Amino acid sequence: AIDISSLRAKSGLITIDQGFKNTGSTTSAITFLDGELGILRYRGYPIEELAEKSTFLEVAYLLIYGELPKKDTFESFKKDVTHHTLVHEDIKKILEGFPSNAHPMGVLSSLVCSLTAFYPESLDPNRSWDKVNLGIIRLIAKMPTFAAWAYKNEMGHPVIYPDNNLDYCGNFLKMMFALPADQYEADPVVASALDKLLILHADHEQNCSTSTVRIVGSSQASLYSSVSAGINALWGPLHGGANQAVIEMLEAIKEDGGNSKKWLEKAKDKDDPFRLMGFGHRVYKNFDPRAKIIKKAADDVLAKMGVNDPVLDIAKELEEAALKDPYFVERKLYPNVDFYSGIIYRAIGIPTEMFTVMFALGRLPGWIAQWKEMRANSEPIGRPRQVYVGEVERNYVPISKR
Ligand code: ACO
Repeated sequence: AIDISSLRAKSGLITIDQGFKNTGSTTSAITFLDGELGILRYRGYPIEELAEKSTFLEVAYLLIYGELPKKDTFESFKKDVTHHTLVHEDIKKILEGFPSNAHPMGVLSSLVCSLTAFYPESLDPNRSWDKVNLGIIRLIAKMPTFAAWAYKNEMGHPVIYPDNNLDYCGNFLKMMFALPADQYEADPVVASALDKLLILHADHEQNCSTSTVRIVGSSQASLYSSVSAGINALWGPLHGGANQAVIEMLEAIKEDGGNSKKWLEKAKDKDDPFRLMGFGHRVYKNFDPRAKIIKKAADDVLAKMGVNDPVLDIAKELEEAALKDPYFVERKLYPNVDFYSGIIYRAIGIPTEMFTVMFALGRLPGWIAQWKEMRANSEPIGRPRQVYVGEVERNYVPISKR
């Protein structure tokens, strides 16, 4: 048994809150969320309004700089972002060093971290805010290039260079899906659904990857290494992997004969650990405001593209059945944002292993805004304490006597 009182005398009172369920790590003026009421606001603006009226780049500006930009400011921000989409040719060599079966999240985090080598001034914690801002622009501009190139590497296709005549989503879709010999034009319905999805994912206060970005940055590590760490945190199945789990579940239902009712019953069976993926949320206990918005975009994409995919038919059946089923209604288990984002990505031809990369693309402005806020507030280095529960004190025994 440990004598806790003796430890307390030395180190003061330490609280334990594993998973930080009720511990604030910081104050923040970026994102407000109320899970009970289903409210999500960026810098005070409701997510519903932003998704309907704004664009991803404008939301990125809002999150990072705190205000909606005036027309001129926004034009020059867009121009700067467009100007920096190209990456150093040597980054292609790094990309080519990855085997084609490399997971695109590993490739993405490596390429983002490689920017520390191409822009070593980013390592200086005392550089001016102008230089910090240039680093921010570079990251927003190059992230779609990295993400699309990670996919091309996986496909064994030549990379497509950015097209600076296109907007953010149009350019990304072209780098993903065009082949060098092809004329490619992104469908506006697809580009608009993607823009909305990116807006909805742009920040979600102190989640695992964002807290990671802040804690890595609190050691005065560069923006690029902090965001690279955030990408790795997002990679885990408990964080960024939910929409992939949705599609895998739908595929399993299809393999099992497509009987969605049977799987609905399985999810309700308390002796069965299976849960309906993409339903329910840890924070949003009444509804996920992002899911409401994205459901419409998902319907639009499916209608426009006339997708004929049994997996997506099963999704529709499950959604309709669960919304009428007393088990799900009583527990307020509605489809969450990942249910619909998985459907949209599948419908527009993005493979499941790229889903988390898409999440990272959307979350980038939030990571940057949180990193910048933490540095601007000169927050101290993050260094949690612990309650030690190991051996109290032992004498070393020579190996010959053990
Ligand atoms: N399928 C079936 N039953 C469910 C589901 C589900 N998806 N989600 C919750 N329930 C049931 C629980 O069994 C529980 O039933 P009970 O009251 O009879 O015991 C009741 O609903 C309340 O659920 P909790 O377990 O208290 O909810 P919790 O907050 O712990 O879980 C979670 C939330 C983890 C999201 C859960 O709903 C779940 O596992 N969903 C499926 C996975 C998923 O979609 N995850 C992504 C979430 S979105 C995101 O993280 C970005």
